[in-house]
Amino acid sequence: MTIDRETALKAIERMCDRQSIRNFSDRPIPDEDLQKVLDAATAAASAGNLQPVSVIVERDHERGKRLGELCTKQPFIGKASANLIFLLDWHKLSVYAACRNAPFNCNDSWMHFVTGMEDVMCIAQAAETAAWLLGIGSCYIGTAMHSGSEIAEMYNIPQRAYPMLVLALGYPADIPAKRRKLEKESIFFEGSYPDLSDEQICEIYDRKYEGITLSFPKQEEARLAMVEKFRRGLLTTYSPEKTEEIIKEALERGYITEIQRRFGIHYHAVDNYNMGGHILEMMHKQDLYPSKILREGKIEL
Ligand SMILES: Cc1cc2nc3c(=O)[nH]c(=O)nc-3n(C[C@H](O)[C@H](O)[C@H](O)COP(=O)(O)O)c2cc1C
Repeated sequence: MTIDRETALKAIERMCDRQSIRNFSDRPIPDEDLQKVLDAATAAASAGNLQPVSVIVERDHERGKRLGELCTKQPFIGKASANLIFLLDWHKLSVYAACRNAPFNCNDSWMHFVTGMEDVMCIAQAAETAAWLLGIGSCYIGTAMHSGSEIAEMYNIPQRAYPMLVLALGYPADIPAKRRKLEKESIFFEGSYPDLSDEQICEIYDRKYEGITLSFPKQEEARLAMVEKFRRGLLTTYSPEKTEEIIKEALERGYITEIQRRFGIHYHAVDNYNMGGHILEMMHKQDLYPSKILREGKIEL
């Protein structure tokens, strides 16, 4: 196989420019290009080459809007030219195994759950990259799993399959400001993990999040609500005294920092635990891991 280096380098340059797109134009993705994206995704790597994945292709705007509602109300999903709904899917393999007298219990195994999710990410990322190379923007939606039962019903998804991820695809209406990333040297460590001091680690993230803050609202009720949410998050990690100290400091400053917002408000530990339970229950209903643990009430190590 001859590689055209110039073309490859151009493609890599384009990949380095990748960013999520949430503002889509009305221009539809031609079927030919969508099929190219799906071809690239089909060739993705797979653990044991089992490919426990199915993808629902949603091109209808009205249904896209409903999907957006179900993905914790993200309206831009309804504007996408196509939405790819990635399922972790042990249904097809379980039927095949039964028809061909092979044993099967992958739907309820922790290892297969993890490798299956890795497969979902591999195929989704192949689609994302192929689309970007063709000038098509996209945004991952991780919140499909919060409404797994409703989405399963909407798309006739059988037992042993579950919607894990959506990729909203469309041509960009505009290119937003780029999100700051960790520097390459803070991700790739040659040979072994370096001895980083706490201070060095803080500097790495301070550089990423520098200048990004969330101000407390001026309006009393909204300010109190934000403080209360922040307090709930902090109490999962700190003593009541330390919690109040952190809140006092933030109120005096007038804002919380990005890392406080990420873990204290947005990716709120308490709420995420609760939502996690809800998701596990829906996965259990679809007869997926950790069904056995929930049925038997124990984890075998
Ligand atoms: C697994 C996963 C789930 C995500 N879920 C959402 C989502 O539900 N809504 C959203 O607007 N963006 C979502 N994103 C996109 C991230 O917010 C985005 O990648 C991140 O802010 C970095 O920005 P960038 O992609 O422009 O570099 C998700 C990304 C990943 C990888």
